[in-house]
Amino acid sequence: MKLKQGLTLWLTGLSGTGKSTISEALRDKLIKNNPDFPIEILDGDAVREHLCADLSFSKKDRFTNIERIAFLAGKISKHDVLVLVPVIAPYQEARKMARSLSAQFVEVYIKTSIEEVIKRDVKGLYKKAIAGEIKEFTGISDPYEEPENPEILIETEKQSVEESVDKIIDYLITGNYLQSEEHQNKYRAIKT
Ligand code: ADX
Repeated sequence: MKLKQGLTLWLTGLSGTGKSTISEALRDKLIKNNPDFPIEILDGDAVREHLCADLSFSKKDRFTNIERIAFLAGKISKHDVLVLVPVIAPYQEARKMARSLSAQFVEVYIKTSIEEVIKRDVKGLYKKAIAGEIKEFTGISDPYEEPENPEILIETEKQSVEESVDKIIDYLITGNYLQSEEHQNKYRAIKT
């Protein structure tokens, strides 16, 4: 698999939907196929530990968080890198701003119902948010504006991680961002 052009792949969704898991599985699959595949992940949790450690979860700070990440993603993807960005990014307006900072941008909505993420509660944060121990928690005491027109919709209650990864790869091949060996061979065969 070859990347034909740099791209920011933005994975938005509630906490605990599997944004990071899907991003890592996608990276692993691409790297396994091609060890030199140019790819980077800007994960919300990791970014908040480093680049955005000074920010809270207020609306204003969430916007600043997204702005910093989107700026960076735009700069990196320009150099023919696939930049995966698994972050909640709950506001439509902030996601629109993020889109404007990359020459190529694809939005992936990782959709899971609030009931299901509360049930999964991988990090134990929903329990605390419901108990009022964490304030301004997305989906509980803070809004999540669903994407209206994402390029890719992943419904995690219906699709496995592997199926989700394949759906994203198919989209990237169809959109001419990725070129598969199979594609290249077919093209060569047509030319000769
Ligand atoms: S965003 O809203 O600014 O895009 P971001 O993706 O960076 O959020 O960080 C979300 C992660 O921070 C969650 O996965 C969770 O682990 C943690 N977190 C801590 N407090 C909150 C909160 N109040 N709301 C949402 N996530 C929180």
